[in-house]
Amino acid sequence: MDVTRFVDDRPEDGVFRVNRAIFTDAAVFEAEIARLFEGGWVFLGLESQAAQPHDFFTTFAGRVPVLVQRCGEGVLRAFVNSCPHKGARLAQTRQGHARLHVCPYHSWSFDSAGRNKAIKWKGAGCYAEAFDQADHGLAPLPRFAAHRGFLFGSVAADVPPLEDYLGEAAHLLDLVADQSAEGLELVPGQVTFTYAANWKLQLENCSDAYHFTSAHPSYIRVLERRQQELSADVVASVWESSDYWKEEAQGVAGGSYSFANGHVLNWGIFGVTPAIPLYESAAALAQRHGAARRDWMFNMRNLTIFPNLQVAENASSQLRVIRPLAPGLTEMRTWCIAPKGESGEARRQRIRQYEDFFNPTGMATPDDTVSYENCQIGYGGMIEPWLQGYARGMTASVAGGNRFADVLGMAPQRSVLADSQLCDETLFHSYYRAWARRMAQGAAA
Ligand code: FES
Ligand SMILES: [Fe+2]
Repeated sequence: MDVTRFVDDRPEDGVFRVNRAIFTDAAVFEAEIARLFEGGWVFLGLESQAAQPHDFFTTFAGRVPVLVQRCGEGVLRAFVNSCPHKGARLAQTRQGHARLHVCPYHSWSFDSAGRNKAIKWKGAGCYAEAFDQADHGLAPLPRFAAHRGFLFGSVAADVPPLEDYLGEAAHLLDLVADQSAEGLELVPGQVTFTYAANWKLQLENCSDAYHFTSAHPSYIRVLERRQQELSADVVASVWESSDYWKEEAQGVAGGSYSFANGHVLNWGIFGVTPAIPLYESAAALAQRHGAARRDWMFNMRNLTIFPNLQVAENASSQLRVIRPLAPGLTEMRTWCIAPKGESGEARRQRIRQYEDFFNPTGMATPDDTVSYENCQIGYGGMIEPWLQGYARGMTASVAGGNRFADVLGMAPQRSVLADSQLCDETLFHSYYRAWARRMAQGAAA
């Protein structure tokens, strides 16, 4: 595949453009599934989704159905969720608890370590010796690894170690995991929805600060009204940031970081405010991690681990898994994510904020998905194929990190510091550089 047809990346000329066809072309989509979603690490779920012996959850790596299960000895494993007999999907539910999975088609059964436990009427089956010698257990996913409770798998075996793949972006997963000494959990209840547009629109939108005031006016108006209703002392208690942030953040509203392998973060300074459910832990977190690092936990942070994981900590805290179904169809699985052990009051606040902003029933998600669908319709206009939405921040982007990245001991490839209107688009370059490299490699292979 000639990737220069889709990504026009000429930093020396100050040019970065993406061709509309990247969102609509069926051959591109097929190659993305093979090379990105089945050709490398993808996020599967959180360890806490299968916390107890025999707990399991199911998901997908590209087209491959995946069963992640904890066995009786407590070991987590990932399998292809397909019966070796005739291939039927074995575990039918999104999550559950099972010592034994019995295939609904012909009743072969498998224990929680993936071993075949019974083949119905085996003795009467007149099987050949070659059949007896074969392993009848579930096929393990070729690669499976965890970072701080985030579980990843790969259908391709020849991938770098997970820690190398995550690289410096792992510091940002740590920042999520460190919000409680006990780790993270998903608030019960998941929301799944589809939108009629390409998966990369979700990838981009999470990192797109430019759309916020344009696409979400109703949400912003509600926030403004609530702010007016707050008592004076609540308003005054906002901005209890550490001295480090008070000093260093003068004139800075936030920024972005770009990492190797297509991972990115955009962030904004919120301050240590009671508007954030984590506020009850502010002192304890400062003690455990230092005030400057604690303040990072209160910042607005939208993190993408390429290609399918997003952790959005903005209006509330959301974990998203992107699943491409067709060039113009994407499934989103989303959860409210929370530090374990937070108080009922904080959890209530988190869930109320979550309902406000997220989900097809919230005030922001529908604005976004309608915009994705409008883009997908707009991509039909190929008379001028090159899109111009990758140029903001070109002259603000610098190599390496900055003083805020240093707080986390993190060395990104590139960074931008911004006022409230810069709304960097250069972090999308990171997505499309990883995309182009892997699509080109796959073609060579
Ligand atoms: S497909 Fe599973 S037992 Fe036949
Ligand atoms: Fe949005």
